[in-house]
Amino acid sequence: MSKWWRHGTIYQIYPRSFQDSDGDGIGDLRGIRRRIPYLAELGVNAIWLSPIFQSPMADFGYDISDYRAIDPIFGDIADFDRLLEEAHDAGLKLLLDFVPNHTSDQHAWFLESRSSRENPKRDWYIWCDPAPDGGPPNNWISNFGGPAWTLDEATGQYYYHAFLKQQPDLNWRNPELRRAMLDTLRFWLDKGVDGFRVDVIWHLIKDDKFRDNPPNPFYRPGQPDIDRNLQVHSADQEEVHEVIAEMRSVIDSYPERLLIGEIYLPVEKLMTYYGRSGEGVHLPFNFQLIQSPWQADALAKLIDDYEAALPEGGWPNWVLSNHDQPRIAARVGTAQARVATMLLLTLRGTPTLYYGDELAIGKVEIPPERIRDPWAANEPSAAFLRDSSRTPMQWDGSEHAGFSQSEPWLPLSGDWQQRNVDAAAADPDSMLAFTRKLLQLRQEEDILQEGSYSLLVSRGSVLAFERKLEGEIIGVVLNLSAEPTEVDLPPQLAAGTLLIAAQAADAPQELARTVTLAGDQGLVIRAAKEEIRS
Ligand code: GLC
Ligand code: MG
Repeated sequence: MSKWWRHGTIYQIYPRSFQDSDGDGIGDLRGIRRRIPYLAELGVNAIWLSPIFQSPMADFGYDISDYRAIDPIFGDIADFDRLLEEAHDAGLKLLLDFVPNHTSDQHAWFLESRSSRENPKRDWYIWCDPAPDGGPPNNWISNFGGPAWTLDEATGQYYYHAFLKQQPDLNWRNPELRRAMLDTLRFWLDKGVDGFRVDVIWHLIKDDKFRDNPPNPFYRPGQPDIDRNLQVHSADQEEVHEVIAEMRSVIDSYPERLLIGEIYLPVEKLMTYYGRSGEGVHLPFNFQLIQSPWQADALAKLIDDYEAALPEGGWPNWVLSNHDQPRIAARVGTAQARVATMLLLTLRGTPTLYYGDELAIGKVEIPPERIRDPWAANEPSAAFLRDSSRTPMQWDGSEHAGFSQSEPWLPLSGDWQQRNVDAAAADPDSMLAFTRKLLQLRQEEDILQEGSYSLLVSRGSVLAFERKLEGEIIGVVLNLSAEPTEVDLPPQLAAGTLLIAAQAADAPQELARTVTLAGDQGLVIRAAKEEIRS
């Protein structure tokens, strides 16, 4: 097994919120450089940076006005080159965020495109005539609420935007646009980046007839606007796989690079993004742990179904949190977040860890006047507050938590004075120490990297499974509730050795056929060799 990303852990950094170096309250590349030793010591193998490119920041960098320039808020290209070099020197891979579905409305391409119907770049974006009544061409809705079409008065046509109106969608059916975008990938690959996470990759191709989406019969008021319709014609079109295969062949023309796709689709659909014979993305992000109820039976089933659905040669991956979703500790509580992290780091497949989850940063209250997410402005009632998952990393007990010299762009969590890297480093039982231990174990144990997965127990609040490789077994036993419970262990685990406990103070003195698990307990056990039957 040679591919680094099969045995490595990816760490997502939201650059605005990791480390500020120039005192403007916003994280930047020099800040990230300063924290490379921290990341290397944590034991992750790759960092993925949310977008750092030139942007008016309408959607905080997911609206790019120049794919090849670094936004001055984050630094310049020299800072980037140094960051890449220092990351590599520390043994870390560096992944960038590629946002191919849309640009900023300030991108030179869009300024040209909107300048006249005859402009050579008109067709680089998606322009349609108004409906007969003068309204939008069809019923497609923006992911951030409201119509997905905006009228350009000067040229009398509407342009499509799956997100904000400041984020016009590109037309991937246009061969010149395609070439320009693939060249962008080459630009960064030539610099030596190790791959990309591709933003909303399932959106790239839309129905060429622009048919209306059907209404969603299960829509309930209070859900986001986008859920009113089923996205049958506006996303996940068959032809998207050709586009992805082209990206993949660019990636494969460089050694050992990684292509990840952001895809929110049901499992059967998700699997198609590996490509028919592996020409899709290496890793279609698997967000099921985020979407599932936090219950043993639900999780056991989704893991089994996911394992069963993987195509030949398809490598699994798991995600617990990201910059668009509630943090894991906000969802299940800080004690249970340990169990969740144990699950993430012991499942079969590449884990992605979200910055700050190693501190179990929980729910952060954002006072109304400090809300920054543009989605919240569009849809105050329906929008989940993404700001709450994007708050600054908490480094120490000094003012602004060592994140910045001045007031950060988003507030810190209420408990930052106790919950920070400095405090955690001094506590052998901290979430940070626990996460490091798990990462180290994963690094050392081929069983955790390559071993097969099989479910042992899913009963009440207990989820237990085994990873097995060449006759060796590591077992994982999780209590998904805050209440203590009992579990019957199979002989090989009953006679095994406890490697890591989520609640070390309450760990069982010794393993036995029946073990009491404290609330929020999780155990990683090395099975006794003599008890393993093949
Ligand atoms: C992706 C990003 C999200 C962004 C959206 C539009 O879902 O993760 O943060 O707002 O795409 O680019
Ligand atoms: Mg700064």
